[in-house]
Amino acid sequence: MRILVLAMIASLISGPAFAEVTKEQAVEKSKEMVKELGGGLKGKLQEAVKASGFGGAISVCKEIGLVRAKEVGDKFGGSIRRVTHKTRNPQNAPDSHEADVLTKMEHDHHAGKLQEAYVEAVTGADGKKNLRFMKPIVTEALCLNCHGAPDKLNPDAAKAIQLNYPNDKATGYGADQVRGAFSVVYPLN
Ligand code: HEC
Repeated sequence: MRILVLAMIASLISGPAFAEVTKEQAVEKSKEMVKELGGGLKGKLQEAVKASGFGGAISVCKEIGLVRAKEVGDKFGGSIRRVTHKTRNPQNAPDSHEADVLTKMEHDHHAGKLQEAYVEAVTGADGKKNLRFMKPIVTEALCLNCHGAPDKLNPDAAKAIQLNYPNDKATGYGADQVRGAFSVVYPLN
């Protein structure tokens, strides 16, 4: 009780800070959002490949795109999406902050220093402060069926991709490369 009263007084004294989200809280929310959106992707891809081949499985990588991302963003009170320098879906193009961080991730990965997450509080031109949380997405063998060298793609996937993504730039990857990142924007004030 005493602690509660003290906390209430403290929040009154500090005024508007009462409603503010701390950086640490925003980082925790961001981690949960990434987990909710991206968790289990590999398992889902493997299941879909078994059920309908690589051509059919393209809907799995797509599903965690815009629709699911919006649901997760609404649930947690922030926004989340996937971004990359080499887009398959042009809507996943990075803004200038994201582009800088993606480049840094690539450098860090080459140097063997890729971080779990890249976090910064950024104040926009509108004066609004956001936590920018980005978590790298790294390729593995499974991904190369749809993101590997153009002549090594799974033939069914290649067909489906050509049909649905005429401006595809997301091929040519090897395993263990930075494919892109989850990017969370979480309001701090
Ligand atoms: C069955 C084919 C397929 C496989 C396997 C696959 N992807 Fe994708 N990937 C796609 C398609 C299709 C899109 C475009 C989704 C959209 O419309 O948003 C995409 C988009 C992405 C994007 C968003 C950026 C962009 O280019 O638009 C990332 C990041 C990504 N994939 C990473 C991976 C990773 C990592 C793996 C392996 C764990 C993987 N993908 C496996 C088909 C695939």
